[in-house]
Amino acid sequence: MKIKDCIALVSGGGSGLGEAVCRYLAELGAKIIVLDKDENAAVRVSTAVHGMAVQCDITQDQALEEAFVKIQQAHVRPISVAINCAGIAPAQRMVGRNGPVALSWFEEVIKINLIGSFNVMRLSAAQMMKAQVVAEEERGVIINTASIAAFDGQIGQIAYSASKGGVVGMTLPAARELAKFGIRVMAIAPGLFDTPMLQNMPQEVRAALHEQTLFPKRFGQPEEFASLVAQIITNPMFNGEVIRLDGGIRMHA
Ligand SMILES: NC(=O)c1ccc[n+]([C@@H]2O[C@H](COP(=O)([O-])OP(=O)(O)OC[C@H]3O[C@@H](n4cnc5c(N)ncnc54)[C@H](O)[C@@H]3O)[C@@H](O)[C@H]2O)c1
Repeated sequence: MKIKDCIALVSGGGSGLGEAVCRYLAELGAKIIVLDKDENAAVRVSTAVHGMAVQCDITQDQALEEAFVKIQQAHVRPISVAINCAGIAPAQRMVGRNGPVALSWFEEVIKINLIGSFNVMRLSAAQMMKAQVVAEEERGVIINTASIAAFDGQIGQIAYSASKGGVVGMTLPAARELAKFGIRVMAIAPGLFDTPMLQNMPQEVRAALHEQTLFPKRFGQPEEFASLVAQIITNPMFNGEVIRLDGGIRMHA
C-alpha cells in the first residue's frame, strides 16, 4: 500500500506513539484523521499535520459509528489505513493492602485497550471493504498496538497484559477473515517508548529498564514505532503477525 495520498485514521493520535504516527505518515504524504477522546490533543495534532480531528471515545459503539460516517462524508474515498494507538496502562496488584482490586478497574482496562481496539477495527474494516479496487489490489491495512506485556507481564500489569494478550489474539483471525477483501491486519508489541504514558516513571525505574534492554540501552523513540508502521503499510507481505519492537528486552517479574 502506498502511503502517499492514502487516508489514514490514527486512534490515540493526540499523544505519544499515535502522534508520532500521524506526523510520520503526513510527512510521507498521507491524509490523516486524528481520533482521540481528548479533543484539544486531536485538534493540536491535526492542525500540525493538516488533517482532520475527530473527538471520540473508542469504547462507545454508537459514537464511533457516527464518527466513521463523518469521516466517510469528509473524504472522497474510504480510509485505507487504520492504526490503533489509543490505550491506557494503569498498574495495580490483583490483591493489594486493602484487599482485592475492584472488578471495575479490570473491566475498564479491557474495555479501552481490547474492546476499543476491536471497535475501531470492525468499523475500519467495514469502511475499507467499500473501496473500489481493481483485482488483487489492496483495500487496506489495520495495525493494532499490543505490548510486550502481552508476553512478559509484570506484577501489577494483570489487566494491561490481559488486554494486550487479547489484541495479540485478534490479529490472526482478523487477518484471516479480511484477507479476501484485500485487507491486512498486523499488531506491533512495543517495549518501552518515551511517551507521556511513561512520563511519571521514577528515574531509578527508568534506569533499571534501560539496563534490562539488550541494545540500545534506552527507551524507544516514538518515531521508531512510526517507522515500523510505515514499513508495515508499504510491504504487503506483513500480515497476520505480531512484531515485538523492544531492543531485545525481556521484562523481569
Ligand atoms: N509508551 C510505551 O512504552 C508503550 C509500550 C507498549 C505499548 N504501548 C501502547 O501504545 C499505545 C499508545 O501509548 P502511548 O505511550 O502513546 O500513550 P499516550 O498516553 O501518550 O497516548 C494515548 C492516547 O490515547 C488516547 N485515549 C485513551 N483512551 C482513549 C479512548 N477511550 N478513546 C480514544 N482515545 C483514547 C489518549 O487521550 C492519548 O491521546 C497504547 O495502547 C499503549 O498501551 C505503549
